[in-house]
Amino acid sequence: MDLNMKNKVAVVTGGGRGIGYGICQVFAEEGCNVVIADFAPIEKTKEACRKLEEEYGIRTLAVKADISSEEDVCEIFRLTLEKFGTVDFLMNNAGLMGPSSIETVTPEQIRRYERVTVEGTMLMCREFVKLCAAQNRGGHIVNTISKTAIRTSGDGNPIYAATKGAVLAFTKNLAAEVGRRGIYVNGIVPGYVATEGVAHLTERSEKMKKIIILMLVCLAVFACTKKSENEIYVYNWSEYIPDEVIKQFEKETGIKVRYTTYDSNEAMYAKIKITGGADYDVAVPSTYYVQKMQKEGLIQAIDKTKLTNFSKLNPQLINQTYDPDNAFSIPFMWGTTAIGINAKYMSGQRRYS
Ligand SMILES: NC(=O)c1ccc[n+]([C@@H]2O[C@H](COP(=O)([O-])OP(=O)(O)OC[C@H]3O[C@@H](n4cnc5c(N)ncnc54)[C@H](O)[C@@H]3O)[C@@H](O)[C@H]2O)c1
Repeated sequence: MDLNMKNKVAVVTGGGRGIGYGICQVFAEEGCNVVIADFAPIEKTKEACRKLEEEYGIRTLAVKADISSEEDVCEIFRLTLEKFGTVDFLMNNAGLMGPSSIETVTPEQIRRYERVTVEGTMLMCREFVKLCAAQNRGGHIVNTISKTAIRTSGDGNPIYAATKGAVLAFTKNLAAEVGRRGIYVNGIVPGYVATEGVAHLTERSEKMKKIIILMLVCLAVFACTKKSENEIYVYNWSEYIPDEVIKQFEKETGIKVRYTTYDSNEAMYAKIKITGGADYDVAVPSTYYVQKMQKEGLIQAIDKTKLTNFSKLNPQLINQTYDPDNAFSIPFMWGTTAIGINAKYMSGQRRYS
């Protein structure tokens, strides 16, 4: 995979082990130099860096830092600039995990959760954004959230969930604030990955790690959220709209189309759910996803007075049960799904249904 990261520089917090180290490996695989900023003893972080250098031939920097300390955060970027002269990616991976039962949690523990996961992420973003401004160019930030920020976990863990909920809200709104300046901000929601950090939970599959890591990097190079008036963000199934049609639309209207694709309703829904629908102006869900997304507030009502060709749609395809009066959706395509069978290879009685 070439993600155009060669010789660029990524800062990864908590990159010394677990998911963070896996993320470092993927950056390194792409030829991107890596700065690991980790709370762990510096020998451990240096060892992780040495392995990356040996395996991938990249340059690295190990920094001992606690991201909840403003001083340490500034030092991470000072040392990064000193060694590499630039920084392109910030992967906010470090976060505090562990059991935090509401009955036993202490104010100190609550504050520590908040300081590491919320304040730490915010401070890292603040310094990175300042550097992007000083360098007069954009950059990419990816913040690590958790599914507990979106839905209730079987294990509870409300303190952890609350801090990740704060990171989710922060991520969405930071994207809105700095997206226009070419600083792309995304959040990722890893599934369960068996790391030392979750040793207190039951052991499950290791395989998830690589999958999540690939997803992280894919997200890291993709869209921002803040749009200018002359841009439209379209999220569609692959191969639904030919490139020429998009170019023609841009030429006729002067509106730039930011076009990204997906290959399943589930992928589209997950991405839109994470951003609360803020990333896209137009998406193309199948009918059975329209009602679900509308109920969850992920799509807005359509002002049909602006759709001058609405009256020309086939009456049989509008006003359907999933969206009466087409308040939230309009049909884009109609078709049937079929399975083709080569009769030569079939034996016995034919059945049709
Ligand atoms: N493992 C999972 O199943 C899972 C699921 C969802 C989200 N996450 C999130 O993914 C991230 C990484 O999880 P993991 O399982 O790899 O964790 P981990 O505990 O195995 O590794 C975390 C790393 O972060 C470092 N770190 C911790 N506090 C720090 C601080 N204040 N400053 C700098 N570095 C610090 C640690 O030294 C360690 O190297 C966390 O934000 C976690 O909440 C994990």
